[in-house]
Amino acid sequence: MATVSFDKATRIYPGSEKPAVDSLNIEIEDGEFLVLVGPSGCGKSTSLRMLAGLEDVNAGAIRIGDRDVTHLPPKDRDIAMVFQNYALYPHMTVADNMGFALKIAGVPKAEIRKKVEDAAKILDLTEYLGRKPKALSGGQRQRVAMGRAIVREPQVFLMDEPLSNLDAKLRVSTRTQIASLQRRLGITTVYVTHDQVEAMTMGDRVAVLKDGLLQQVDSPRNMYDRPANLFVAGFIGSPAMNLVEVPITDGGVKFGNSVVPVNRDALKAASDKGDTTVTVGVRPEHFDVVEHGAADSLSKDSDAAPAGLAVSVNVVEELGADGYVYGTAQVGGETKDLVVRVGGRQVPEKGTKLHVVPRAGETHVFATSSGERLTD
Ligand SMILES: Nc1ncnc2c1ncn2[C@@H]1O[C@H](COP(=O)(O)OP(=O)(O)OP(=O)(O)O)[C@@H](O)[C@H]1O
Ligand SMILES: [Mg+2]
Repeated sequence: MATVSFDKATRIYPGSEKPAVDSLNIEIEDGEFLVLVGPSGCGKSTSLRMLAGLEDVNAGAIRIGDRDVTHLPPKDRDIAMVFQNYALYPHMTVADNMGFALKIAGVPKAEIRKKVEDAAKILDLTEYLGRKPKALSGGQRQRVAMGRAIVREPQVFLMDEPLSNLDAKLRVSTRTQIASLQRRLGITTVYVTHDQVEAMTMGDRVAVLKDGLLQQVDSPRNMYDRPANLFVAGFIGSPAMNLVEVPITDGGVKFGNSVVPVNRDALKAASDKGDTTVTVGVRPEHFDVVEHGAADSLSKDSDAAPAGLAVSVNVVEELGADGYVYGTAQVGGETKDLVVRVGGRQVPEKGTKLHVVPRAGETHVFATSSGERLTD
């Protein structure tokens, strides 16, 4: 077991000027499960491959424990990698696939057999040890690939989208198995996925990458509660956080007929930068519904317009326990799309209007120009 550190690690592919991974700094603790997540092409696989020794590091360093492995060949790094396509040998049995690396390393046969059997027990593969990979289901093949990594007892596991070939249901159950297996073995793990739900459910910490640049490394909770910038705010969470640009007014921001109080320091920081607007983020579950009715009845019958922001309900997704309302609202003179979570028993009809108010203390404020977070 060991710590892993990326120390300003940079990869520039030949023929390219822009780094695929740019000065990556992450300190991974001994035994930690760290997930690298981000959109396609952001540099996740490149980062993992640099750690594996499959990709040159053009600047900076990579350390495993106190060893500088930046220029070591893969075989000397004491890591085991699980790939998306599993890369099993088709002509070998499950047992031989799992034990192959040990055989190459000259480990005695009886010892290999013991390690393979132990791993098979953990992974529920005992009855398949004599089979060839083609006679296994996708999920079983995935477990064989895991078994091959486990028997080597490496200092670090590296996994690049190991669940992407599985169907949705199997993916959910396998991600729980991998996470609990990792906790049991306590082996430092770096796991790559483009799926933010996978990242949030599996990782002790999550690192979000965009265009080769690290945006934030944090626990799933902090990543959700305090996204460091607009990119992370929009990327983490499903459905995504509502982000609306609003003019800075004294002491708050106007949401329809309500003024949502916003930390003065945040607004001052924005105007000090020369911004005249801020971007306010509200997660779908952080709106309170203050009134609900038919599209035309609410607005005309009273002098006092209802509080909050009027959202026209366009689409309703009923999920049982709760529901998501996809609607539009006038914010700052523009029509904005918004998503509001409602209780499963209070789902509004399409074509009606909901009046919502962002819950106090649950709004996020970002600088419109730089995207950085302004609230604590
Ligand atoms: N061998 C290569 N030569 C040149 N450019 C490459 C090479 N491999 C990757 N790239 C580029 O480097 C960038 C990062 O690629 P990388 O494979 O690390 O992305 P990723 O985050 O793993 O994406 P995905 O989610 O699609 O797997 C991309 O712009 C890609 O086009
Ligand atoms: Mg990749």
